[in-house]
Amino acid sequence: MSGRKYINLVVTGASGRMGRLVCELAGADEENWEVVGAVAHPRSSRLGQPSFISGDHAPVVTPTFGGKCNLVIDFSTPAGTETAIQIALREGAALLVGTTGLPEATRQVLEAAARRIPVLLAPNTSVGVALCASLVEQAARALGPDCRVEIVEAHHRHKKDAPSGTALMLAAAAEQGGAAMGPEQIHSLRGGDVVGEHTIRFAADGEYVEIIHRATSRTVFARGALRAGRWLVTQPPGYYSIRDCLSASPRA
Ligand SMILES: NC(=O)c1ccc[n+]([C@@H]2O[C@H](COP(=O)([O-])OP(=O)(O)OC[C@H]3O[C@@H](n4cnc5c(N)ncnc54)[C@H](OP(=O)(O)O)[C@@H]3O)[C@@H](O)[C@H]2O)c1
Repeated sequence: MSGRKYINLVVTGASGRMGRLVCELAGADEENWEVVGAVAHPRSSRLGQPSFISGDHAPVVTPTFGGKCNLVIDFSTPAGTETAIQIALREGAALLVGTTGLPEATRQVLEAAARRIPVLLAPNTSVGVALCASLVEQAARALGPDCRVEIVEAHHRHKKDAPSGTALMLAAAAEQGGAAMGPEQIHSLRGGDVVGEHTIRFAADGEYVEIIHRATSRTVFARGALRAGRWLVTQPPGYYSIRDCLSASPRA
């Protein structure tokens, strides 16, 4: 390890669609990353199995993690996020949470943790969605409060939360731009294998504007999480968003 700058990464939700991808991408980049822990649900059917298939050093999936790390990336469930917080606090490690649908109580625990460690809550880690959020804020400001904003989001049939964390983030961006938003303006579709689609529609008298983001592969979220994680480990304790990361280091 001498001379190399490893990030020692723990992934919580390592048996899931996103967690597996994060393990796989980090595991394949041995110059920069070492996956030291892969945590899944205590009754996961993948316990004891390798966390990724490329590379020689894949840790097996375990129900908890007791070793050393400097970054925890979480794509799991609210219970998994609690585990991620405990690991990160114990280790003084940076924590990136991609899990969506978190209850208010967990968000408060994250905010409290951010006084001791760098925490980034990212309902969407793609650069394209971060760009869309900026455009939505700009459009809401330019089109004015009389313009009606509607958000339509579509996801695969396994997605547990609705509306999506991304839709809520985009609604917050519209509010930042001065638009009035209520829950009835967000519409959720579930079915098939849709990775993620978000349409933000601004309707005025005589014209409408649409901003659309379509994710065609989950890899974009996993890559974005690793990129943000690399940035996060260099930050002091605090509560960050993906927009902080992108504006601070466009090519991080
Ligand atoms: N931020 C983003 O860009 C982004 C992108 C995509 C998805 N997401 C969000 O990320 C989360 C995961 O999505 P996914 O599609 O990967 O879902 P998934 O395939 O259902 O994976 C969730 C994983 O979490 C594990 N888990 C459940 N409870 C746990 C616990 N207590 N401790 C540790 N692990 C636990 C599950 O383990 P077992 O099933 O093995 O029991 C499962 O493998 C969701 O909230 C989703 O909305 C965010």
